[in-house]
Amino acid sequence: MVHSSPRERVLKVFEEEYGNAPEYLVQAPGRVNLIGEHTDYNDGYVLPLAIDRAVWIALSAIPEPEIRLHSLDFDQGIRVPFDRALTRGEGWPEYLKGLINIYKKSKLELFGWKGVMAGNVPIGAGLSSSAALELALTRAFGTVGHWNWNPSQMASICQLAENEWVGMNCGIMDQMISASGRAGHVLLLDCRSLKTIHVPLPETVRVVILDTDTRRGLVDSAYNERRSQCESVASYFGVKALRDVSIEELEGSKAKLDPLEFRRARHVIRENGRVLDCAAALRLGNLDRVGKLMIASHISLRDDFEVSSEALDLIAECARKAQGCYGARMTGAGFGGCAMALVNTKSIDAFVEQLLKDYTEASDRKAHLYVCSPSDGASAFSAEEFLLS
Ligand code: GLA
Repeated sequence: MVHSSPRERVLKVFEEEYGNAPEYLVQAPGRVNLIGEHTDYNDGYVLPLAIDRAVWIALSAIPEPEIRLHSLDFDQGIRVPFDRALTRGEGWPEYLKGLINIYKKSKLELFGWKGVMAGNVPIGAGLSSSAALELALTRAFGTVGHWNWNPSQMASICQLAENEWVGMNCGIMDQMISASGRAGHVLLLDCRSLKTIHVPLPETVRVVILDTDTRRGLVDSAYNERRSQCESVASYFGVKALRDVSIEELEGSKAKLDPLEFRRARHVIRENGRVLDCAAALRLGNLDRVGKLMIASHISLRDDFEVSSEALDLIAECARKAQGCYGARMTGAGFGGCAMALVNTKSIDAFVEQLLKDYTEASDRKAHLYVCSPSDGASAFSAEEFLLS
């Protein structure tokens, strides 16, 4: 039981609690970002992939207009009637309440369901466990309510719920990749138009998530601060977002800008260029180039955007020296949590062994490494589908 997958756990507990199999099973994955950090809320580009760790919900429709949901990870059951005013509280139920609030505003029709939920995306590690939760819940509502599943519309609704109810001013990257990832591919996303291109990840490389065993603190306030620094530079240039400012324009106005805000903007503008370069290099199979761009991204996040941490710098550096590594960098909002590396498939075992040893020796911490496969985004299965698979 302890080692079974979240998919198996939710199916088993649902049957135990309700005495029959659920009607549906839904899942939504976490993500790791290959490159394009802190660019999404500047209307820029990102290149994430959905990982093979997800939030799963087993559920059945009920006639009552309410949700009854049991979270196995938090060992907590909640009941949220649709007709009662929502009040703010704490913890994972806030995501559900924030979503119901936005669904109502968006005039999406709500039908009741009961469910059991579990996941294996590490929480607070920078792998978007919250986007996975939001998209899994939205998939559940959408399945019971027969909503037309439009990934970008659903991702935008989830982002809005997080912005408005939870108070995290995040961009659209995490929700978009959790909604529309594709197995074997990374997603080139234009965060302004929400246009997507799935770019195959060559079989000769694997993405390895490097969990530093540190967790970020005060990330929301530091994140929101970075966001307003970027917005301040955009408004100096009289444009909607930093996406509209070229590096030449920025350099040309250096003397007139606040030095800190100048560096923040320089990171964003250059990072946008790196994302497009990286997508092109991946298509050509030029993995050395991809690795170099990842390293440049890390340095810029460390020095210009200042969202790295000692542990992230150390693990990325140890990774770069380990066998078969093309490049490594921090991933996600930063300040702790996870970095990631692109590693030659043939060298995976040697890479993992060396990195675990080197990181522990240098830090006295134990890294957790996940070799992951790019996976499909949020999906729903009917009883016929999941019972037979
Ligand atoms: C968090 C946010 C994303 C994005 C990244 C940084 O994961 O949720 O929207 O801004 O940080 O790239």
